[in-house]
Amino acid sequence: MRYFTPEGTDMKASVIAQGCMRIAGMSDAEVDAMMDADLEAGVNFFDHADIYGGGKCEEKFGAYLRRHPSARDKMLLQTKCGIIIGKRYDFSEKHIVECVEGSLKRLGTDHIDVLLLHRPDALCEPEIVAETFEKLHTSGKVRYFGVSNHNSFQIGLLQKYTRHRLIFDQLRFGPVHTCMVDAGLHVNMKCADAVVRDGMTLDYCRMNNITIQPWSPFRAAVGTAFGFPHLRLSRALKKLAKKYAATDAAALLAWILRHPANMQPIVGSTDPARIAGMAKAADVTITHEEWYDIYRAAGHKIP
Ligand SMILES: NC(=O)c1ccc[n+]([C@@H]2O[C@H](COP(=O)([O-])OP(=O)(O)OC[C@H]3O[C@@H](n4cnc5c(N)ncnc54)[C@H](OP(=O)(O)O)[C@@H]3O)[C@@H](O)[C@H]2O)c1
Repeated sequence: MRYFTPEGTDMKASVIAQGCMRIAGMSDAEVDAMMDADLEAGVNFFDHADIYGGGKCEEKFGAYLRRHPSARDKMLLQTKCGIIIGKRYDFSEKHIVECVEGSLKRLGTDHIDVLLLHRPDALCEPEIVAETFEKLHTSGKVRYFGVSNHNSFQIGLLQKYTRHRLIFDQLRFGPVHTCMVDAGLHVNMKCADAVVRDGMTLDYCRMNNITIQPWSPFRAAVGTAFGFPHLRLSRALKKLAKKYAATDAAALLAWILRHPANMQPIVGSTDPARIAGMAKAADVTITHEEWYDIYRAAGHKIP
């Protein structure tokens, strides 16, 4: 595994993070096996949200920490707040603080390493968010802050008001979902790929040393990148995997890690064997040509 230190922090985070959105229905033994595989592979960064499993994912993780109390100090815990599912987004002080209190309780920890605002709130008042961050930081409940699904202007607006550096933007990205790079390849063209869908956030994050955390790197609208209907992509990933003696999932993660933005993919597989295989991605540097081969195999066009 490789590690990196987000600018302005003292964290040493694994370049591959474990997403915990799918652990609500797992038994304690299954969670233990997933965590054994993660820790063995060197994964030390775990992503949550107050809403995952209606809070059950954080509860399951908290139960793991109670069974393994020495594990907490060796890991970095991130959670997200601000979504009221199906109804609205709420960045008010009351809601953010209630979310954090709830996550701390469910996770059974006294601090969260990173808190992300999960999805933009149309009624966001950055001054209020800044004050809330300040209180959460001063009380020792949250060490660092970031955002998720935010564009460059939304980040810039928040950053104008808070002295706390926004260190992450968690955005969907993978070979199947490439909006963040498509527009940059089709500048000043009339085709659909030229439409800027991310607010040029990829370049903004690179300019400001904000780490992008690609979410759902494997998932497609139907199935995953590893099979129907993405047969050309899955064949290309297999070929890459064979060359680097890695799994298909590791080949896909190596594609994400090859991007010079130095992203930190958040993977959602809970399967111990798959997790063990993925770690290899951190040791593989695919070529410039292979990166474009995968991009095209996923059906994306080069102008
Ligand atoms: N910020 C946001 O808005 C947002 C939204 C969604 C998710 N997230 C975060 O991103 C994380 C990952 O999301 P995700 O779980 O949807 O995406 P993912 O990592 O793209 O997909 C994981 C799913 O793919 C399956 N899969 C099938 N074949 C696989 C293979 N060969 N290798 C690996 N996985 C394979 C996994 O099953 P197995 O478990 O059986 O391996 C699992 O169900 C979440 O846990 C969450 O932390 C954030």
